[in-house]
Amino acid sequence: MKRVLFVCLGNICRSPLAEGLFKETIEERNLGHEFEVDSCGTNGLHDGESPDIRTRNNARKHGLQLNHQSRQITPSDFEYFDHIYVMDENNLRTVRGLCPAEFEFKIQKIRNFDSIQTGSDVEDPWYGGDDGFETTYQTLLRCTRSLADELLTNRG
Ligand code: 4NP
Repeated sequence: MKRVLFVCLGNICRSPLAEGLFKETIEERNLGHEFEVDSCGTNGLHDGESPDIRTRNNARKHGLQLNHQSRQITPSDFEYFDHIYVMDENNLRTVRGLCPAEFEFKIQKIRNFDSIQTGSDVEDPWYGGDDGFETTYQTLLRCTRSLADELLTNRG
């Protein structure tokens, strides 16, 4: 069993979508039982909330229903999860700042798994229009598919 955590700022747009897309791809491969998947935010501003309505509507358009309640990252996440994937440089700085040195190796940017603009940020769609939510979806779709390929290749 591998434990995978996706992290963004508010845990209502990017990381709950990454969680939903990653779960979708492992379930399509009948490997849902091999993973525990969750998401959280670096701030707690939206604690307990469902994903943003624009994120949910965009995901539903693609046949994906998101079921998550926002929560803030906690100190125990660093020990519990095997892999921690952040959306952008801002998240990376915050999460590294909170993480005990012994667990820092678990943290990386999700776009390290993107074939396009590898290693760049998943931009925060919060302030923009609908096209930003579609871009976020397409970006995280690519990233979570190739992440699943990678984790499934290296499982043992
Ligand atoms: P997310 O987007 O980090 O992708 O969930 C955000 C949503 C809300 C806020 C920030 C980012 N906020 O500060 O309210």
